[in-house]
Amino acid sequence: MASAITRLSGKVAIVTGAAQGIGRAIAERLASEGAKVAIADINEAGAGQTAQEIRAGGGQAIAVKLDVTSLEQAAAAMDRVERELGPIDILVNNAGWDKVQPFVENTPEMWERVIAINFRGPLNCCKAVIPKMQARGGKIVTISSDAGRVGSMGEAVYAGCKAGLIGFSKTLARELARNRINVNVVCPGPTDTALLKSAMADRPGVLDAMAKGIPMRRLGQPQDIAGAVAFFASADSDYATGQVLSISGGLTMVG
Ligand SMILES: NC(=O)c1ccc[n+]([C@@H]2O[C@H](COP(=O)([O-])OP(=O)(O)OC[C@H]3O[C@@H](n4cnc5c(N)ncnc54)[C@H](O)[C@@H]3O)[C@@H](O)[C@H]2O)c1
Repeated sequence: MASAITRLSGKVAIVTGAAQGIGRAIAERLASEGAKVAIADINEAGAGQTAQEIRAGGGQAIAVKLDVTSLEQAAAAMDRVERELGPIDILVNNAGWDKVQPFVENTPEMWERVIAINFRGPLNCCKAVIPKMQARGGKIVTISSDAGRVGSMGEAVYAGCKAGLIGFSKTLARELARNRINVNVVCPGPTDTALLKSAMADRPGVLDAMAKGIPMRRLGQPQDIAGAVAFFASADSDYATGQVLSISGGLTMVG
């Protein structure tokens, strides 16, 4: 994988939900900058394919089956990554899921699933990785959403989880600064992935209308998000922690 930028050479990264979409683009980007990357996903076949394609391009990657809703699985995954790739320098909490529906129609079972994946998932992965990072420093980058900053119709519980991740990350950033662990958050706006397409499947024309409302007049692409994550994963952001960066073509400009 040829790249002029090698600012992550020798670093070990784990990216959750990297079988497809934004996570996959993040994993490809970190690998292209020299990192050894663990592709962690509940979709084992998809994770294997992403890892294989990174290796075919000259990068270093392994696939790890992980359901982020399980603390036990998160701990086992971190141990496995350290055994196979070395000490973890970078955790990217990317795995996420939602079902778009007005809050009054949500069932408590649906909330539980949304909370388990989007909120407890990053908690589990942070709990499992932080003790490993404390002596050497590290980078934690969590993918929240602009839904968590400004709200989003039909995504009440998801938006609550994503807002919760911002408060959680800012607090971790304060607690872990002395350990040289940076904790930052990237908030995508509407980004062209399977998640967005399935969320809008029964609303034809909404994606085009959304794009027209974005100052840059297009949806985000997974690669747009990956560049911001690579910055927060690298030494270029060593003095930035507890920050929240929207990558949304100007749709949201939060002071
Ligand atoms: N696409 C957007 O418009 C958008 C906007 C804002 C934020 N986001 C966030 O970006 C992240 C990536 O979303 P995407 O659009 O690429 O979605 P996607 O559905 O294309 O990919 C999500 C990945 O997460 C994996 N995953 C789901 N549940 C998991 C679990 N329990 N354990 C491990 N892996 C699991 C899936 O298998 C999949 O590979 C999510 O956190 C999402 O909330 C997306």
